[in-house]
Amino acid sequence: MIRMDSVTKRYPDGTVAVDRLSLEIPDRSITVLVGPSGCGKTTTLRMINRMVEPSEGTILLDGEDVSRQPVTTLRRSMGYVIQNAGLFQHRTILDNIATVPRMLGWGKEKARSRAAELMERVGLDAALGKRYPYQLSGGQQQRVGVARALAADPPVLLMDEPFSAVDPVVRKGLQDELLRIQDELGKTIVFVTHDIDEAIKLGTMVAVMREGGHLAQFAPPAELLSDPADAFVEDFLGADRGVRRLSFFPAAALELSTGPVVPVDATARRLAQVKDPYALVTDGEGRPLGWSEPRDLTPGDIDPERLLPYGRPFRPATDSLRAALDCAVLSPTGWAVAVDTDGRVTGVVSQPAIAEAIRHAHAQVPAPAPEQVPVRARDGAGDRPDAEVTG
Ligand SMILES: Nc1ncnc2c1ncn2[C@@H]1O[C@H](COP(=O)(O)OP(=O)(O)OP(=O)(O)O)[C@@H](O)[C@H]1O
Ligand SMILES: [Mg+2]
Repeated sequence: MIRMDSVTKRYPDGTVAVDRLSLEIPDRSITVLVGPSGCGKTTTLRMINRMVEPSEGTILLDGEDVSRQPVTTLRRSMGYVIQNAGLFQHRTILDNIATVPRMLGWGKEKARSRAAELMERVGLDAALGKRYPYQLSGGQQQRVGVARALAADPPVLLMDEPFSAVDPVVRKGLQDELLRIQDELGKTIVFVTHDIDEAIKLGTMVAVMREGGHLAQFAPPAELLSDPADAFVEDFLGADRGVRRLSFFPAAALELSTGPVVPVDATARRLAQVKDPYALVTDGEGRPLGWSEPRDLTPGDIDPERLLPYGRPFRPATDSLRAALDCAVLSPTGWAVAVDTDGRVTGVVSQPAIAEAIRHAHAQVPAPAPEQVPVRARDGAGDRPDAEVTG
């Protein structure tokens, strides 16, 4: 949908902010521009809606050169969200969200009811609609910023470090919300961040940029992690990219073992059948109680208080290999506990078995559409306030 063809931006003082950038931004997915400060991310984003005009090259939107389109029409087809939301301080939340519909000539009632609908969509309590921005938390303001950008239902959303100013917990919530909104609405989103973890979590495609406005690599996140194009990208990804890549492989492929899983009222015969070094004891409902060496268990008299903790179980249906590995690493026995959605034990898996699955996974290409695999969970960090607004 958006195609950049050898686009360069040279500012009047001679700074080359973006250097012959070519990118194909796929429809209805999230493309992330990531890179260190000053590498040209904001400039790239602003060239898409012509807040900045390119010095050379062309940008096509649905095959049409954006430089030939009236700026107002173009901007109305692109919601724009910035850090700290950039809300109008003297307007209520509802009126902030209704800004663009009002500009487009919608009646007051219709615009407000659209605004109310969007508040719900971005997870804001309707009661906040009458407040002013200063009466909201940073995370809530950021949600208002997203709602405002969505108000006229533009096919494209441009987001410049929208979640950088909030704490990690709120940021994770905002990221999850964005993924959900994207799933529901299928917008084409171009998202700028300098946080690689955020890029990997949100991006269907990730463009890693480097100083001087150069594109270092353009790839799906799993591919970045497995095959960084050069030392710069590798360094930018950080030390544990191997472990992080495991987030893209479902834990469902792990072979679970039920041999060591025994109920709290297990008979002597059942306990004698446990051949593994540890047994996992479950309660009457099948939920985990804890680990023990089988010989320390007295049939008919198992004391849950004396068991070793079972750590944090994983859910094979929805978790990744990374989550399973984490459970095994945190478990005092080195075995990870798998549970179903009701928390009932479906089996256990040892570290060596997980290691085997990991070797197998590394030999494979991960799922082609990683955003479809609901097995990710991470977040990032940021800075820099800003203060612009558009529709
Ligand atoms: N109006 C301007 N005039 C001259 N140089 C500019 C202008 N705007 C940006 N630059 C320069 O262009 C380069 C890219 O800036 P840009 O804002 O696109 O970077 P960025 O990747 O968004 O950085 P950050 O992560 O800090 O937001 C920087 O060297 C910056 O100083
Ligand atoms: Mg920037």
